Amino acid sequence: MSDQATGPLDTTPPPPPHVPADENFRLLIEAVDDYAIFMLDPAGNVASWNPGARKMKGYEAAEILGRHFSVFHTPDDVNAGQPGRELAGAAAHGRYESEGWRVRKDGSKFWANVIVTAIRDDQGTLRGFAKVTQDLTERRRLAELEQIRRFSSHIQAAREEEQARIARELHDELGQQLTALKMALAELHGALEARLADLPQAAAGMQDMHRLIDVSVASLRRIVAGLHPIAIETLGLVPALDWLTEDFSRRYGISVEFQAALGDLTLSDAAAATLFHIVQEALTNVARHARASRVSIDLSARDGACLLRIEDDGQGMRSDARANTRSFGLMGMRERVDRLDGRLVIDDMPGRGVHIAIAIPLMSVLAPGGDGR
Ligand SMILES: Nc1ncnc2c1ncn2[C@@H]1O[C@H](COP(=O)(O)OP(=O)(O)OP(=O)(O)O)[C@@H](O)[C@H]1O
Ligand SMILES: [Mg+2]
Repeated sequence: MSDQATGPLDTTPPPPPHVPADENFRLLIEAVDDYAIFMLDPAGNVASWNPGARKMKGYEAAEILGRHFSVFHTPDDVNAGQPGRELAGAAAHGRYESEGWRVRKDGSKFWANVIVTAIRDDQGTLRGFAKVTQDLTERRRLAELEQIRRFSSHIQAAREEEQARIARELHDELGQQLTALKMALAELHGALEARLADLPQAAAGMQDMHRLIDVSVASLRRIVAGLHPIAIETLGLVPALDWLTEDFSRRYGISVEFQAALGDLTLSDAAAATLFHIVQEALTNVARHARASRVSIDLSARDGACLLRIEDDGQGMRSDARANTRSFGLMGMRERVDRLDGRLVIDDMPGRGVHIAIAIPLMSVLAPGGDGR
């Protein structure tokens, strides 16, 4: 039927709009506003301007047409001959691409990728240049942030390794020597027992030495535990956390309810140390900032992930707390979790305490063959 041609099933494409080819091209350039696209005459003066250029550089067309494109360069680049190099490079090789700082009308800078292309007529005469500029400031900033994050994570790992080494040496060397000293003193004490009755001063001195050694052993333990939780390597994570939470409770008078349900999973030493450090930092924060009376800590494994929740019933974070650039505790926590491909969420409800929830894939935390099978 003849009316099918215009009916809903018509698949013939509509006729092309009657727009001249260069008008189409102009519309295309006008529509792009993420790129500055404009022309330079052979001497480098601005000969056209698009909305993207206006948005990126801040000049209206009327202000910039006819001016030399070196106004977009920094004074240092101008002195170093960069504008001339771009034109000469494009004229010689057809195209010149560079990345660097460029300057907006208001003097602010942005990091740009710039491509200058020579435009020649059919006889090969240079008619000018096409210049396409992309603002990469945000991309560069993100790349820098990522680099800083990796660097600080590296420093933190190195610091922890060094602390672990010092802790092990203190524990193994000094700890053994103090124990040997205590035994030698006890032996001496036994041997002199009968005579000490007549030497009250010596007897008192010996008691003092016993006490001093005990105090030194206790200090050593405290220092070692602060440097590196050796306990987790010898006892395992859960008993080490039992110790940490009880010690915290006693020291600060804040009650801690700690629950662990890891079943027969065995975590790697590195993952156990990470989780221990996270709980340690969270508890330190509770003591310093929370004004809490209770903390609950829950460590479990579910759906292929190791989950750690730390919740206090304190006053919550001050609104400016997260922006504090001198605070490294929460940042370090996040980095530790990142290193294990995990996720950390801090739920901060003013007046209802801080809730930290961490989920780490089990495969990042299990010791080889530690899945209990
Ligand atoms: N449990 C909490 N209750 C209330 N505020 C908290 C809690 N934990 C953290 N904060 C707030 O968040 C901020 C950042 O904590 P973070 O641990 O990163 O740094 P910090 O404890 O101030 O210093 P440090 O670098 O020594 O850890 C704290 O200054 C505090 O204001
Ligand atoms: Mg802290």
